[in-house]
Amino acid sequence: MKRVTDFARFRAEGNPISMVTCYDAWSARILNEAPIDAVLVGDSVAMVMHGHPDTVHATVGMMATHTAAVRRGIGEKFVVTDIPFPEHRKGLTAAMEAVDAIMKAGANAVKIEGAQGHLDVVRHIVGSGVPVMGHLGLTPQSVHQMGGYRVQGRDSHAAHQIELDALALQEAGVFALVLECVPAELAARITEALTIPTIGIGSGVHCGGQILVLQDVLGLNLGFKPKFLRTYADGADQFKAALGRFDEDIKAARYPSPEESFLNEKISNH
Ligand code: KIV
Repeated sequence: MKRVTDFARFRAEGNPISMVTCYDAWSARILNEAPIDAVLVGDSVAMVMHGHPDTVHATVGMMATHTAAVRRGIGEKFVVTDIPFPEHRKGLTAAMEAVDAIMKAGANAVKIEGAQGHLDVVRHIVGSGVPVMGHLGLTPQSVHQMGGYRVQGRDSHAAHQIELDALALQEAGVFALVLECVPAELAARITEALTIPTIGIGSGVHCGGQILVLQDVLGLNLGFKPKFLRTYADGADQFKAALGRFDEDIKAARYPSPEESFLNEKISNH
């Protein structure tokens, strides 16, 4: 996907959208050649790449730096970047400064968590010509208020509020909506009610697409195994095995071989 209009087209064609997170140029180069529709520079970068305990530690500078790195590797693929906590709650000027930095770094769109209390900010950003993706359900920037990473919308009152927020975000102009860790039936109902695509994470198969953290998909996030996660590679084991062979070759003086060394008579060829 290269354009925001592709999200509507996929929805209209009933074609599920695949997304993963991406935080750096070398993964971006690989993802540019992989059959993944779009990428998210998620504020999970603060946890996955910087080792912070939650996404509250992400900053505008961090998001802009990683967005620029991703753009240098991803070609023309569609890039969405998170507005970090609490920029969209600081008022229009702060929100627009964050949007400015992130879009100039190379994003095609921004993602904003939640709805209540900042729908006017979402409307203003959309009205300024910047595509906005919504994010409801488990919104990790509110982890302290939620008392941990828990499934949201389990009782009918909470479920109804998420449905109302989803409709309000669509009305405010978002082009797609991430639904994180809500019951599959609720996600299916919201997906049916909206004209924009929903992108699920831990929200069942009836969303308009799915997103996961790249390191989780590849089995690189040691010890992280929530119920919804399916890993498609044992990346950490493969890394360790490869590095073990490298170490053995060094210790046994098998690396580098003569072919991997610059010898006097061949040096002029390089
Ligand atoms: O920051 C993030 O990684 C996200 C997800 C939806 C995976 O927001």
